[in-house]
Amino acid sequence: MKETILSGMRPTGTLHIGHLSVLNNWVSLQAEYKCYFFAADYHALTTGYENTADLQENIKNMVIDWMAVGIDPEKSTLFVQSKVQAHAEIFLLLSMLTPLSWLERCPTYKAQIEQFKVNQGKDITTYGFLGYPVLQAGDILLYNANRVPVGKDQLPHVEMTREIARRFNHIYNKKIFVEPEGKLSEIPLIVGTDGRKMSKSYHNQINIMSDEKELNKKVRSMITDPSRIHKTDPGNPDVCTVFNYQKIYNAPIIEKLESNCRKGTIGCMDCKKKLISALDILLSPFREKRAEILKKPSYVEDVLREGQIQASKQADETLNAVKSVMNMA
Ligand code: TRP
Ligand code: SF4
Repeated sequence: MKETILSGMRPTGTLHIGHLSVLNNWVSLQAEYKCYFFAADYHALTTGYENTADLQENIKNMVIDWMAVGIDPEKSTLFVQSKVQAHAEIFLLLSMLTPLSWLERCPTYKAQIEQFKVNQGKDITTYGFLGYPVLQAGDILLYNANRVPVGKDQLPHVEMTREIARRFNHIYNKKIFVEPEGKLSEIPLIVGTDGRKMSKSYHNQINIMSDEKELNKKVRSMITDPSRIHKTDPGNPDVCTVFNYQKIYNAPIIEKLESNCRKGTIGCMDCKKKLISALDILLSPFREKRAEILKKPSYVEDVLREGQIQASKQADETLNAVKSVMNMA
Protein backbone atom coordinates (compact mmCIF):
# COMPACT_ATOMS: atom_id res chain seq x y z
CA MET A 1 0.00 0.00 0.00
CA LYS A 2 1.30 3.39 -1.00
CA GLU A 3 1.31 6.07 1.68
CA THR A 4 -0.84 9.12 1.10
CA ILE A 5 0.43 12.65 0.61
CA LEU A 6 -1.81 15.65 0.75
CA SER A 7 -1.07 19.32 0.38
CA GLY A 8 -2.94 22.47 -0.47
CA MET A 9 -2.13 25.94 -1.65
CA ARG A 10 -4.19 29.09 -1.35
CA PRO A 11 -5.14 30.54 -4.73
CA THR A 12 -3.79 34.02 -4.18
CA GLY A 13 -2.77 34.86 -7.74
CA THR A 14 -0.10 34.01 -10.27
CA LEU A 15 2.59 31.75 -8.87
CA HIS A 16 6.10 33.11 -8.58
CA ILE A 17 9.52 31.48 -8.59
CA GLY A 18 9.40 31.24 -4.80
CA HIS A 19 6.70 28.59 -5.26
CA LEU A 20 8.90 26.48 -7.53
CA SER A 21 10.74 24.53 -4.86
CA VAL A 22 7.48 23.55 -3.18
CA LEU A 23 6.05 22.49 -6.51
CA ASN A 24 9.16 20.58 -7.54
CA ASN A 25 8.86 18.74 -4.28
CA TRP A 26 5.25 17.84 -5.07
CA VAL A 27 6.29 16.71 -8.54
CA SER A 28 8.85 14.31 -7.18
CA LEU A 29 6.48 12.88 -4.56
CA GLN A 30 4.04 11.80 -7.26
CA ALA A 31 6.08 8.76 -8.23
CA GLU A 32 6.15 7.24 -4.78
CA TYR A 33 2.92 8.24 -3.06
CA LYS A 34 -0.78 8.51 -3.59
CA CYS A 35 -1.05 12.29 -3.88
CA TYR A 36 -3.85 14.77 -3.37
CA PHE A 37 -3.18 18.41 -4.22
CA PHE A 38 -5.88 20.99 -3.90
CA ALA A 39 -6.67 24.68 -4.21
CA ALA A 40 -7.51 25.85 -0.69
CA ASP A 41 -10.17 28.37 -1.66
CA TYR A 42 -11.88 28.30 1.75
CA HIS A 43 -8.54 29.16 3.32
CA ALA A 44 -8.19 32.04 0.88
CA LEU A 45 -11.57 33.29 2.07
CA THR A 46 -10.47 33.41 5.70
CA THR A 47 -8.39 36.48 4.92
CA GLY A 48 -9.76 37.58 1.54
CA TYR A 49 -13.50 37.23 1.97
CA GLU A 50 -14.34 40.73 0.81
CA ASN A 51 -12.31 40.61 -2.35
CA THR A 52 -13.35 37.58 -4.34
CA ALA A 53 -13.59 39.06 -7.85
CA ASP A 54 -10.54 37.15 -9.10
CA LEU A 55 -11.01 33.99 -7.07
CA GLN A 56 -12.12 31.65 -9.88
CA GLU A 57 -9.47 32.96 -12.23
CA ASN A 58 -6.81 32.58 -9.56
CA ILE A 59 -7.82 28.99 -8.91
CA LYS A 60 -7.70 28.13 -12.57
CA ASN A 61 -4.38 29.84 -13.19
CA MET A 62 -2.81 28.21 -10.18
CA VAL A 63 -3.86 24.74 -11.27
CA ILE A 64 -2.60 25.39 -14.81
CA ASP A 65 0.74 26.48 -13.34
CA TRP A 66 0.88 23.29 -11.27
CA MET A 67 0.40 21.18 -14.37
CA ALA A 68 2.84 23.27 -16.38
CA VAL A 69 5.64 22.54 -13.90
CA GLY A 70 4.89 18.82 -13.86
CA ILE A 71 2.03 17.98 -11.52
CA ASP A 72 0.42 15.22 -13.51
CA PRO A 73 -3.33 14.64 -13.21
CA GLU A 74 -2.74 11.05 -14.35
CA LYS A 75 -0.71 10.44 -11.21
CA SER A 76 -2.20 12.84 -8.66
CA THR A 77 -5.69 13.91 -7.71
CA LEU A 78 -6.13 17.65 -8.26
CA PHE A 79 -9.20 19.36 -6.93
CA VAL A 80 -10.75 22.49 -5.45
CA GLN A 81 -11.43 22.33 -1.71
CA SER A 82 -14.91 23.90 -1.77
CA LYS A 83 -16.04 21.55 -4.53
CA VAL A 84 -15.73 18.62 -2.15
CA GLN A 85 -18.48 19.31 0.32
CA ALA A 86 -17.07 17.04 2.99
CA HIS A 87 -14.48 19.75 3.77
CA ALA A 88 -17.15 22.16 4.98
CA GLU A 89 -18.90 19.49 6.98
CA ILE A 90 -15.87 18.06 8.72
CA PHE A 91 -14.76 21.58 9.59
CA LEU A 92 -18.08 22.09 11.35
CA LEU A 93 -17.87 18.82 13.24
CA LEU A 94 -14.23 19.23 14.27
CA SER A 95 -14.88 22.76 15.47
CA MET A 96 -17.18 21.32 18.14
CA LEU A 97 -14.36 19.52 19.88
CA THR A 98 -11.42 21.85 19.26
CA PRO A 99 -10.63 23.86 22.40
CA LEU A 100 -10.59 27.58 21.85
CA SER A 101 -7.32 27.84 23.76
CA TRP A 102 -5.53 25.69 21.15
CA LEU A 103 -6.56 28.10 18.41
CA GLU A 104 -5.74 31.24 20.35
CA ARG A 105 -2.32 29.81 21.21
CA CYS A 106 -1.49 28.84 17.65
CA PRO A 107 1.66 30.77 16.70
CA THR A 108 0.42 31.56 13.18
CA TYR A 109 -2.74 33.16 14.58
CA LYS A 110 -1.25 36.11 16.39
CA ALA A 111 1.57 36.51 13.88
CA GLN A 112 -0.79 36.71 10.91
CA ILE A 113 -3.14 39.13 12.61
CA GLU A 114 -0.20 41.40 13.33
CA GLN A 115 1.18 41.05 9.78
CA PHE A 116 -2.11 41.95 8.15
CA LYS A 117 -2.51 44.91 10.45
CA VAL A 118 0.97 46.26 9.75
CA ASN A 119 1.20 45.49 6.01
CA GLN A 120 -2.35 46.09 4.85
CA GLY A 121 -4.05 47.89 7.70
CA LYS A 122 -6.52 45.06 7.75
CA ASP A 123 -8.26 43.40 10.68
CA ILE A 124 -8.60 39.66 10.10
CA THR A 125 -9.84 38.73 13.55
CA THR A 126 -12.91 36.81 12.40
CA TYR A 127 -14.42 33.59 13.63
CA GLY A 128 -13.42 31.97 10.33
CA PHE A 129 -9.80 33.03 10.56
CA LEU A 130 -9.53 31.72 14.11
CA GLY A 131 -10.73 28.39 12.73
CA TYR A 132 -8.08 28.27 10.00
CA PRO A 133 -6.19 25.34 11.58
CA VAL A 134 -9.42 23.38 12.12
CA LEU A 135 -10.26 23.78 8.45
CA GLN A 136 -6.78 22.58 7.58
CA ALA A 137 -7.05 19.63 9.99
CA GLY A 138 -10.24 18.60 8.21
CA ASP A 139 -8.47 18.74 4.83
CA ILE A 140 -5.77 16.44 6.04
CA LEU A 141 -7.86 13.99 8.07
CA LEU A 142 -10.46 13.40 5.36
CA TYR A 143 -7.85 11.67 3.21
CA ASN A 144 -6.00 9.73 5.90
CA ALA A 145 -2.91 11.55 4.79
CA ASN A 146 0.26 10.10 6.28
CA ARG A 147 2.47 12.96 5.26
CA VAL A 148 1.84 16.60 4.63
CA PRO A 149 4.60 18.41 2.74
CA VAL A 150 4.63 21.98 4.01
CA GLY A 151 6.95 24.85 4.74
CA LYS A 152 8.11 25.48 8.27
CA ASP A 153 5.42 28.07 8.93
CA GLN A 154 2.74 25.41 8.50
CA LEU A 155 4.15 22.87 10.96
CA PRO A 156 2.04 24.15 13.89
CA HIS A 157 -1.05 23.37 11.80
CA VAL A 158 0.06 19.81 11.16
CA GLU A 159 0.81 19.44 14.85
CA MET A 160 -2.66 20.71 15.73
CA THR A 161 -4.13 18.26 13.23
CA ARG A 162 -2.46 15.45 15.15
CA GLU A 163 -3.88 16.77 18.40
CA ILE A 164 -7.38 17.08 17.00
CA ALA A 165 -7.15 13.56 15.55
CA ARG A 166 -5.99 12.18 18.88
CA ARG A 167 -8.72 14.00 20.77
CA PHE A 168 -11.39 12.78 18.39
CA ASN A 169 -10.20 9.17 18.46
CA HIS A 170 -10.09 9.34 22.26
CA ILE A 171 -13.53 10.92 22.76
CA TYR A 172 -15.28 8.50 20.43
CA ASN A 173 -13.08 5.64 21.46
CA LYS A 174 -12.32 4.51 17.95
CA LYS A 175 -9.35 5.00 15.68
CA ILE A 176 -11.11 6.90 12.92
CA PHE A 177 -8.32 9.31 12.05
CA VAL A 178 -4.75 8.68 11.03
CA GLU A 179 -2.24 11.03 12.69
CA PRO A 180 -0.33 12.76 9.92
CA GLU A 181 3.29 13.77 9.94
CA GLY A 182 4.65 17.02 8.61
CA LYS A 183 7.14 16.59 5.85
CA LEU A 184 9.31 19.63 5.95
CA SER A 185 10.47 20.67 2.53
CA GLU A 186 13.69 22.60 2.52
CA ILE A 187 12.61 25.75 0.82
CA PRO A 188 15.36 28.21 -0.01
CA LEU A 189 14.02 31.63 0.78
CA ILE A 190 13.81 33.69 -2.37
CA VAL A 191 13.49 37.36 -1.67
CA GLY A 192 11.66 39.71 -3.98
CA THR A 193 13.47 41.80 -6.59
CA ASP A 194 13.68 44.66 -4.10
CA GLY A 195 15.14 42.51 -1.32
CA ARG A 196 11.89 42.33 0.67
CA LYS A 197 9.74 39.23 1.02
CA MET A 198 8.46 38.17 -2.40
CA SER A 199 4.80 39.10 -2.54
CA LYS A 200 2.17 40.11 -5.03
CA SER A 201 1.29 43.16 -2.97
CA TYR A 202 4.87 44.50 -3.18
CA HIS A 203 5.06 44.02 -6.98
CA ASN A 204 8.47 42.48 -6.46
CA GLN A 205 7.77 38.98 -7.67
CA ILE A 206 9.05 37.08 -10.65
CA ASN A 207 6.27 34.90 -11.95
CA ILE A 208 6.89 31.36 -13.08
CA MET A 209 5.21 32.28 -16.36
CA SER A 210 7.26 35.43 -17.04
CA ASP A 211 8.48 35.69 -20.61
CA GLU A 212 11.94 36.90 -21.55
CA LYS A 213 10.81 40.51 -21.83
CA GLU A 214 9.32 40.43 -18.36
CA LEU A 215 12.44 38.73 -16.94
CA ASN A 216 14.57 41.45 -18.46
CA LYS A 217 12.46 44.16 -16.94
CA LYS A 218 12.38 42.60 -13.48
CA VAL A 219 16.05 41.67 -13.26
CA ARG A 220 17.32 44.94 -14.73
CA SER A 221 15.37 46.81 -12.05
CA MET A 222 17.03 44.89 -9.23
CA ILE A 223 19.21 46.84 -6.84
CA THR A 224 22.84 45.71 -6.77
CA ASP A 225 25.66 46.72 -4.43
CA PRO A 226 24.70 50.40 -4.03
CA SER A 227 28.26 51.54 -3.39
CA ARG A 228 29.37 50.30 -6.79
CA ILE A 229 29.37 53.17 -9.28
CA HIS A 230 31.70 52.21 -12.13
CA LYS A 231 31.68 48.71 -13.46
CA THR A 232 35.34 48.31 -12.56
CA ASP A 233 34.70 49.15 -8.88
CA PRO A 234 35.11 46.13 -6.66
CA GLY A 235 31.65 44.91 -5.64
CA ASN A 236 30.26 43.29 -2.54
CA PRO A 237 28.01 40.36 -3.50
CA ASP A 238 26.96 39.86 0.13
CA VAL A 239 24.70 42.90 -0.02
CA CYS A 240 23.40 42.25 -3.54
CA THR A 241 19.98 40.73 -4.27
CA VAL A 242 21.11 39.71 -7.76
CA PHE A 243 23.83 37.62 -6.16
CA ASN A 244 21.27 36.00 -3.91
CA TYR A 245 19.45 34.84 -7.01
CA GLN A 246 22.67 33.75 -8.75
CA LYS A 247 23.35 31.38 -5.85
CA ILE A 248 20.12 29.59 -6.67
CA TYR A 249 19.87 29.89 -10.44
CA ASN A 250 23.52 30.02 -11.49
CA ALA A 251 25.03 27.72 -8.88
CA PRO A 252 27.60 26.12 -11.24
CA ILE A 253 29.31 29.47 -11.94
CA ILE A 254 28.75 31.07 -8.58
CA GLU A 255 32.41 31.10 -7.46
CA LYS A 256 33.51 32.72 -10.66
CA LEU A 257 30.78 35.34 -10.44
CA GLU A 258 31.68 36.09 -6.86
CA SER A 259 35.38 36.60 -7.49
CA ASN A 260 34.73 38.65 -10.64
CA CYS A 261 32.37 40.87 -8.69
CA ARG A 262 34.84 41.33 -5.86
CA LYS A 263 37.67 42.13 -8.29
CA GLY A 264 35.50 44.45 -10.34
CA THR A 265 36.00 42.40 -13.51
CA ILE A 266 32.33 41.94 -14.25
CA GLY A 267 29.80 44.74 -14.59
CA CYS A 268 26.41 44.50 -12.93
CA MET A 269 24.66 44.55 -16.29
CA ASP A 270 26.62 41.54 -17.51
CA CYS A 271 26.00 39.81 -14.24
CA LYS A 272 22.27 40.47 -14.57
CA LYS A 273 22.28 39.18 -18.14
CA LYS A 274 23.61 35.87 -16.89
CA LEU A 275 20.78 35.69 -14.39
CA ILE A 276 18.17 36.57 -17.02
CA SER A 277 19.45 33.85 -19.27
CA ALA A 278 19.48 31.24 -16.48
CA LEU A 279 15.93 32.11 -15.49
CA ASP A 280 14.79 32.05 -19.09
CA ILE A 281 16.25 28.58 -19.61
CA LEU A 282 14.60 27.39 -16.41
CA LEU A 283 11.17 28.86 -17.11
CA SER A 284 10.75 28.49 -20.87
CA PRO A 285 9.65 24.81 -20.72
CA PHE A 286 6.94 25.81 -18.21
CA ARG A 287 5.68 28.52 -20.54
CA GLU A 288 5.53 26.04 -23.40
CA LYS A 289 3.68 23.49 -21.33
CA ARG A 290 1.22 26.13 -20.19
CA ALA A 291 0.51 27.18 -23.78
CA GLU A 292 -0.09 23.53 -24.65
CA ILE A 293 -2.55 23.13 -21.79
CA LEU A 294 -4.42 26.27 -22.82
CA LYS A 295 -4.85 24.89 -26.33
CA LYS A 296 -7.05 22.06 -25.10
CA PRO A 297 -10.53 23.41 -24.50
CA SER A 298 -12.02 22.64 -21.06
CA TYR A 299 -8.98 20.55 -20.09
CA VAL A 300 -8.52 22.20 -16.70
CA GLU A 301 -12.24 21.97 -15.95
CA ASP A 302 -12.18 18.28 -16.85
CA VAL A 303 -9.16 17.60 -14.65
CA LEU A 304 -10.76 19.37 -11.71
CA ARG A 305 -14.09 17.62 -12.18
CA GLU A 306 -12.41 14.22 -12.26
CA GLY A 307 -10.37 15.23 -9.19
CA GLN A 308 -13.52 16.30 -7.40
CA ILE A 309 -15.08 12.88 -8.04
CA GLN A 310 -11.99 10.99 -6.87
CA ALA A 311 -11.46 13.16 -3.81
CA SER A 312 -15.14 13.05 -2.82
CA LYS A 313 -15.08 9.27 -2.79
CA GLN A 314 -12.34 9.18 -0.18
CA ALA A 315 -13.56 12.22 1.75
CA ASP A 316 -17.15 10.97 1.99
CA GLU A 317 -15.98 7.63 3.27
CA THR A 318 -14.11 9.27 6.13
CA LEU A 319 -16.91 11.72 6.82
CA ASN A 320 -19.42 8.87 7.05
CA ALA A 321 -17.24 7.06 9.57
CA VAL A 322 -16.95 10.28 11.58
CA LYS A 323 -20.68 10.88 11.58
CA SER A 324 -21.34 7.31 12.45
CA VAL A 325 -19.26 7.35 15.65
CA MET A 326 -20.78 10.72 16.57
CA ASN A 327 -24.26 9.27 16.11
CA MET A 328 -24.91 11.82 13.39
CA ALA A 329 -25.36 9.30 10.61
N1 TRP B 1 -2.43 26.66 5.03
C1 TRP B 1 -1.68 26.19 3.90
C2 TRP B 1 -0.78 27.32 3.41
O1 TRP B 1 -1.10 28.47 3.57
C3 TRP B 1 -2.58 25.72 2.79
C4 TRP B 1 -3.34 24.51 3.20
C5 TRP B 1 -4.68 24.45 3.42
C6 TRP B 1 -2.81 23.22 3.41
N2 TRP B 1 -5.02 23.18 3.78
C7 TRP B 1 -3.92 22.39 3.79
C8 TRP B 1 -1.52 22.68 3.36
C9 TRP B 1 -3.74 21.06 4.11
C10 TRP B 1 -1.36 21.34 3.69
C11 TRP B 1 -2.46 20.53 4.06
O2 TRP B 1 0.23 27.05 2.82
FE1 SF4 C 1 25.63 42.16 -7.69
FE2 SF4 C 1 26.57 40.96 -9.82
FE3 SF4 C 1 26.82 43.61 -9.53
FE4 SF4 C 1 28.24 41.96 -8.01
S1 SF4 C 1 28.39 42.18 -10.25
S2 SF4 C 1 27.11 43.76 -7.32
S3 SF4 C 1 26.83 40.27 -7.73
S4 SF4 C 1 24.93 42.44 -9.77
